[in-house]
Amino acid sequence: MWCLELLLPLLLIIHNADSQWNVWVPRDITAMTNSCVVIPCTFMYPSSIRPYRGIHGIWYYGQPYPQLFPPVVFKTRTEVVHESYKGRTKLLGDLNQRNCTLLIGNIGAEHSGRYYFRADLGGANIYTYPDFAELKVLDQPSIDVPEEIVSDENLELTCYVPDNCPDMTPEIQWMYTDYLPDPEFSSDYVEEGNTAVMSSTLAFVPRPMHNGQLLGCRVYYPNTTLVYERLISLDIKYAPRSVWVNVSSEVMEGSSVTLHCEVDSNPPPRISWMFGEQELLWDTASNVSLFLDDVTPQNEGIYTCVGDNGFGAMNTSMYLSVRYPPREPVVNESMTVLEGSSLALHCSTQGNPAPTLTWLKDGELVGTITADELSVLEVIEVTPQGDGQYRCLAENEHGRASSSFNITVEYAPVLLEESKCTVVREGVQCVCMATGNPEPIIEFYLADLNITINETDNRYNFYMHTDGHMSTGMIKLREKGERVNNGGPAVNVHCSISNVYGRQSVLLELQQEKKYMMAVIVGTIGGVAVIAFIIAAVRYVGQNNKKENGNPRQDVVLENPALFYSAVKKDKQNLRKKVLKTELLGSKFNSILEETTGEDGDFQPVGPMAGLERQELNYASLEFIGVRPREGAPGRGDDGGNYMEIKAK
Ligand SMILES: *[C@@H]1O[C@H](CO)[C@@H](O)[C@H](O)[C@H]1NC(C)=O
Ligand SMILES: *[C@@H]1O[C@H](CO)[C@@H](O)[C@H](O)[C@H]1NC(C)=O
Ligand SMILES: *[C@@H]1O[C@H](CO)[C@@H](O)[C@H](O)[C@H]1NC(C)=O
Ligand SMILES: *[C@@H]1O[C@H](CO)[C@@H](O)[C@H](O)[C@H]1NC(C)=O
Ligand SMILES: *[C@@H]1O[C@H](CO)[C@@H](O)[C@H](O)[C@H]1NC(C)=O
Ligand SMILES: *[C@@H]1O[C@H](CO)[C@@H](O)[C@H](O)[C@H]1NC(C)=O
Ligand SMILES: *[C@@H]1O[C@H](CO)[C@@H](O)[C@H](O)[C@H]1NC(C)=O
Ligand SMILES: *[C@@H]1O[C@H](CO)[C@@H](O)[C@H](O)[C@H]1NC(C)=O
Ligand SMILES: *[C@@H]1O[C@H](CO)[C@@H](O)[C@H](O)[C@H]1NC(C)=O
Repeated sequence: MWCLELLLPLLLIIHNADSQWNVWVPRDITAMTNSCVVIPCTFMYPSSIRPYRGIHGIWYYGQPYPQLFPPVVFKTRTEVVHESYKGRTKLLGDLNQRNCTLLIGNIGAEHSGRYYFRADLGGANIYTYPDFAELKVLDQPSIDVPEEIVSDENLELTCYVPDNCPDMTPEIQWMYTDYLPDPEFSSDYVEEGNTAVMSSTLAFVPRPMHNGQLLGCRVYYPNTTLVYERLISLDIKYAPRSVWVNVSSEVMEGSSVTLHCEVDSNPPPRISWMFGEQELLWDTASNVSLFLDDVTPQNEGIYTCVGDNGFGAMNTSMYLSVRYPPREPVVNESMTVLEGSSLALHCSTQGNPAPTLTWLKDGELVGTITADELSVLEVIEVTPQGDGQYRCLAENEHGRASSSFNITVEYAPVLLEESKCTVVREGVQCVCMATGNPEPIIEFYLADLNITINETDNRYNFYMHTDGHMSTGMIKLREKGERVNNGGPAVNVHCSISNVYGRQSVLLELQQEKKYMMAVIVGTIGGVAVIAFIIAAVRYVGQNNKKENGNPRQDVVLENPALFYSAVKKDKQNLRKKVLKTELLGSKFNSILEETTGEDGDFQPVGPMAGLERQELNYASLEFIGVRPREGAPGRGDDGGNYMEIKAK
């Protein structure tokens, strides 16, 4: 077939080299179904030919060759036409004027195709022109839509309808334009190659909201029922115009969380979840969820969702806060410091919400409560009572944690005012008490005898007791040769206290119990007999005490209330002693305690203070009955074994 078609023009050209077998028809022509179409046509034939009995013509459909029996659309010699053209066709042109214009009415889709004109000039001069008009029958107008419609850019849509039916002139209307912002309409009429096209152009600026909406073009012929419609759905490209993410939120450490991001854009964007500079996840979709499992404080921060679809990008951020209880605070190591040092104690921790930091010393609040990451407790010129356990407590609504360390304060020995010699029934008893850290070593020096007595000196029965930072030394002198009763400075007992930070030696004052004092006074006046009596009395009482070994303490305490008559030296050192002792006994801590809740039963004063109070008791019992029973200590009741006895030469 196509061979013939190809060859034919060639043959014609050769055959008609010197003549003009020519036809002018529109190459393409369109019509609406049920309307009509006029195919304009003019033709030429060689001037040498004299038409015989007039000029006749035939319109064929589909094929130019009679041998193939193409459907006859119109024929002037007879009225015989193909079934599908019966009553529909009419030759409008005058063939004698070489006008072969054809009208086809009431067109259906089946009439689409090629139409060929064949001129019949009589005899052998019959010729089918190879040029054809191709008819397209449409059941809808066509709309010219730009390949890409971009939001906010001016858009023109044109609806076309053929106007090739002289009896009927189409009208064009745009449908569903109510929602368009300021639509503009313009009509046009274009004739081209003997065919006509009517058009209507709609111009407006599309917005993202118009994406997906319908627009239509309606064509109708007035005074007929013929209506043709074409609908299009607007596909409007727009950059992301909203990026929705969760509001900022809080999660507990260890839990999981889903962050959702939804982007409105056309086409769908590439969505990515960013954490700082790091892209955690991406997908091309309208929404993407980021799932975080077992979150840690490192997950806290700003999360940004970025939507980018090539037409633009947009992002929205949120803050994810990870809550967790305080971490164990980082504090200083335990330390040993010298009295008078100044210390900066550090405590730091993390937690969310930010924990408060509290310093406790031996369970009591010290310093202020802070909400900073770091709390520094300044201790200016630490005193002996600064010794103890320091704890830093971090708390927030999710929990608490604490760390502690110990500070050991070392200081030179300090003699306590209880140090003294006392005249007792059997002689003189000297007690020396001192605090210091390291605990002081106590030695007695008997000036009259030029003897130093200390712990390692096995020749003498010396009692020394240490507890905490307190040392107590004790000797008992039992010999009238020491002239206890002659009223002069009979007993010259020095107490020497020392540790690595210092040494101090003090002459112990002699104190007397009341009745012996009287005796001393009388003795100075009355002489030896009275003194002898007193000594005898002392011995008697002493023997009684020995007999009553079972419970001597009560007797002694009741019978011999102590009386101090020696004045305390009013020097600075003594003042310090008093202060130190008072403080050690707790009054200062009590005042600190009063400023705070004071309710915390967990923390009782411990360490030096409590120890001191106990020590006082020890001392009290030592003075009268010797060693308080202790594990591994010499058994109680052996009065003589506990006390030092010195016999003068
Ligand atoms: C051919 O005939 C038609 C119908 O009468 C007419 O409208 C048209 O103008 C004619 N064409 C020419 C070239 O004369
Ligand atoms: C349609 O018909 C009306 C009368 O019925 C007439 O006035 C009008 O001109 C006609 N319109 C067309 C386009 O033929
Ligand atoms: C984020 O939003 C999504 C959808 O509304 C919800 O399912 C999810 O629980 C939200 N996540 C958070 C952490 O609020
Ligand atoms: C998220 O996107 C999916 C398709 O990717 C869709 O099926 C789903 O409905 C979307 N969810 C929301 C909340 O838009
Ligand atoms: C988010 O958008 C802002 C401007 O709106 C831009 O400066 C920023 O770089 C964007 N962030 C990301 C992660 O794309
Ligand atoms: C406690 O620790 C901090 C930090 O490590 C340090 O700067 C400070 O000097 C320490 N304090 C003492 C008394 O050692
Ligand atoms: C601090 O001393 C106490 C006893 O006084 C002890 O139980 C505790 O373990 C010590 N703490 C440190 C951190 O050394
Ligand atoms: C005390 O005794 C020491 C020897 O133990 C001796 O060197 C010193 O001279 C004596 N002092 C007096 C004052 O007797
Ligand atoms: C006790 O004194 C002697 C000399 O009198 C001395 O050698 C010894 O080191 C002293 N011991 C102590 C513990 O001070």
